[in-house]
Amino acid sequence: MRVASLFCGIGGLDKGFVDAGFDVIWANDFDKYAVETYNANFETPATLADITEYPLEDIPEFDVLIGGFPCQPFSMMGQQKGFEDTRGTLFFRIAEIIDYQIKHRGNKPRAIILENVRALRTHDKGHTFARIKEILREELGYRVFDMNLNSSDYGVPQTRNRTYIVCFANEKVTEFEAPPTCELNYHMQDLLETDVPDKYFLSEKIKKTVLSNGTGGWDAKAETDLPIARPLCATMAKMHRASQDNYVTQEKGLRRLTPRECARLQGFDGPKTSDYIIPVSDSQAYKQFGNAVTVNVANAVAKEVRKKLEETGEWNR
Ligand SMILES: C[S@@+](CC[C@H](N)C(=O)[O-])C[C@H]1O[C@@H](n2cnc3c(N)ncnc32)[C@H](O)[C@@H]1O
Repeated sequence: MRVASLFCGIGGLDKGFVDAGFDVIWANDFDKYAVETYNANFETPATLADITEYPLEDIPEFDVLIGGFPCQPFSMMGQQKGFEDTRGTLFFRIAEIIDYQIKHRGNKPRAIILENVRALRTHDKGHTFARIKEILREELGYRVFDMNLNSSDYGVPQTRNRTYIVCFANEKVTEFEAPPTCELNYHMQDLLETDVPDKYFLSEKIKKTVLSNGTGGWDAKAETDLPIARPLCATMAKMHRASQDNYVTQEKGLRRLTPRECARLQGFDGPKTSDYIIPVSDSQAYKQFGNAVTVNVANAVAKEVRKKLEETGEWNR
C-alpha cells in the first residue's frame, strides 16, 4: 500500500504506518534538519522541499496520504489566526494534491489520515474544522471520521491530545472508531537514562525560575517528576517560562529530559532502547521530537485503517 507522507518531520506517522505494513514511497518536509533525521532512519529518503512550491506532477501516484500538518496557526498558544495565516493554508495544499491525483492521474487515494492539535476543533468557533471536513467530504468525495487520541492511552507515559481525521474513498466504510486503547505499563521514571551529562542539570538560578510557578506572564503550577509527562513541545523556551517543561530529579539534582528520553516518550524508542538515530544538535532534536506524532498512536491508527482496507478488499488491490 503506497503511502505519501506530507509534513513528514522525523516520521512519527511514517514509522507507525511502516510498522503496520504500509510502504512509504514518498515523503516531504522543508526543514533540512528534520529531513536529516528522517533520512538517517528510513529506507526511502524524504524530499527536501516547500510543499507549496513543489510541482504536483512530481509527486508519484499513491494509495494513502498521511500528514500531520503544521499546527502553529491553530494551536491554543498561537494567535489563532487560522486560514488568514499563510501556514493555515497548508490544508488547502493537501486538498490540491489529492485533487490532482484524482483528476490528472485517475487515481483516487483510498485513505487520508491527518493529524493536528486538539484546538483545531474549536478554532474560529469550530468553523475551521467544519470547513476542513466539508472539503474532504463534498469536494473530494471521502467518508470522513474524526477522533481525539491521547498518547497515554496508547502505551507511552505522555499526555498528548491530538485530533485525527481519517477518510476513506470507499463508501462501504460507514464507521471508523478510535483504535482500542492499551494499558500504560511504565512511567516516565522508567525510561530515564542514567549517567546523564552535567549539561542537562539545571543551575540554581534556572531551578529557581522553573520552580516559581510560571514567569513572563504565564501562570502555571511547577511540578516535577511527573509519572506521565506533559506534552513535549517544539518550543521548549515557551514551556520553560510557563513551567510546563518536564523536569526530573536524579542524584545530581533537577534536570531536563535528554533528547533520547524525548524519543522514548514519543514512541520512537522503547523505554530502554536507543535505536532511533538522532544525528542533529540537542536544540534541533527537542524541536523535532516536540513536533512529532507519537509513533504508538500512529501505529494504532494505521492498524485500524489497514483493517478497514482489508474488509473492503482494497488492501491487496
Ligand atoms: C507537526 S510537524 C509533522 C510531524 C510529522 N508528521 C510526524 O509524523 O512526526 C509539521 C512539519 O511540517 C513541516 N512544514 C511546515 N511547512 C511546510 C511546507 N510549506 N512544506 C514542507 N514542510 C513543511 C515542518 O518543517 C514540520 O516538520
